[in-house]
Amino acid sequence: MRFDVIWRGGRIATLDPRLGGLGVIEEGAVAARDGRVAFVGPLSELPGAGDAAEVVNVEGRWITPGLIDCHTHIVHAGNRAHEFELRLAGASYEEIARAGGGIASTVRATRLATEDELVATALPRLDRLIAEGVTTLEVKSGYGLERETEFRMLRAARRLALDRHVRVRTSYLGAHAWPPGESDRAGYLDEVCATIRELGESGLADAVDAFCEGIAFSVVETTQVFEAARAAGLPVKLHADQLSDLGGAALAARYGSLSADHLEYTSEGGAAAMAAAGTVAVLLPGAYYFIRETRLPPVGAFRRHAVPIAIATDCNPGSSPLTSLLLAMNMAATLFRLTVDEIIAGTTRVAAQALGISDEVGTIVPGKWCDLAIWDIERPAELVYRMGYNPLWRRVLAGRTDPV
Ligand code: NIG
Ligand code: FE
Repeated sequence: MRFDVIWRGGRIATLDPRLGGLGVIEEGAVAARDGRVAFVGPLSELPGAGDAAEVVNVEGRWITPGLIDCHTHIVHAGNRAHEFELRLAGASYEEIARAGGGIASTVRATRLATEDELVATALPRLDRLIAEGVTTLEVKSGYGLERETEFRMLRAARRLALDRHVRVRTSYLGAHAWPPGESDRAGYLDEVCATIRELGESGLADAVDAFCEGIAFSVVETTQVFEAARAAGLPVKLHADQLSDLGGAALAARYGSLSADHLEYTSEGGAAAMAAAGTVAVLLPGAYYFIRETRLPPVGAFRRHAVPIAIATDCNPGSSPLTSLLLAMNMAATLFRLTVDEIIAGTTRVAAQALGISDEVGTIVPGKWCDLAIWDIERPAELVYRMGYNPLWRRVLAGRTDPV
């Protein structure tokens, strides 16, 4: 029973739901073999007298699963600092979008960027996340709004996992906005559905996402996208009820969506439908903060109906230029009043569920990938309480520790 690596001498928040709370093991040990967790439990129960190629004493630190950022638009060109200034002068996010700015301006920049440029501009943002213990992130397309650029974005997203030691899940977001100048809505929707059929075969996208909103796609149009995804065998996700309640959460639930995201305007009925479907509520406090939304997501309703809650950065140039998942965690507490346990689960176990990869990552249990974040903290609340301070000590992906 020889292990590759053993981490010992610390406390482990396994996030194993069978243990309750954060699934804490005091005086614990984690052991990896072939990249997977081979043992986790009290050090006293470690089999094989602790025989391993490498033994790491974490000296009282905390070990959690590697963090998961389950909603990002990290691949894009340009930035929208100019629109930020317009908003400071009084314009709203919706007004800018309707005047041809917003998503459309990032689309113009992204269409002009090569695949290499998209990778090169995404890497510094990704490095910020990795430095905070993120081991898995989701990346959406949606700034091409035509076949070639959407594919280029998805290829760039996949390449991030070759250039950096990180897991990437991709979502095709062709239904993010109407292409600038598009008057033939039905024609564009047909193109999106055709792209989904192609993606079903290519393996370039792990899921299909859409933006169901007054300034984007209606419920009927989103339904057409979801039907195409179902036919292609791809799971769906949805930007739902961000600026108004179109019933997006219930629509997502009808399609067994992995997640519905944003959700500030979701109704009690929407929350109940999500619970019944097992759809995760992905809350994005960075976007709430940055567009100065005042309507809070219905956290009470999510709790009443036991809807699983995840937290993500929504890293994007327009509504959430945020490259710190730790800060998103703090905002989820201060702005949305989530508890520390909810937030840590929401960036590990539940975030994995929002990506449909719970069998592989998100908790420290035997058989899953040994993805860990090891923190210089006295108690888990420190991950949520600080603003702009990073207590990561080491990050481990598939049993391998990042070089220091
Ligand atoms: O998640 N809601 C729509 N999409 C993004 C915003 C993208 C943008 O403004 O560029 C979001 O907030
Ligand atoms: Fe988003």
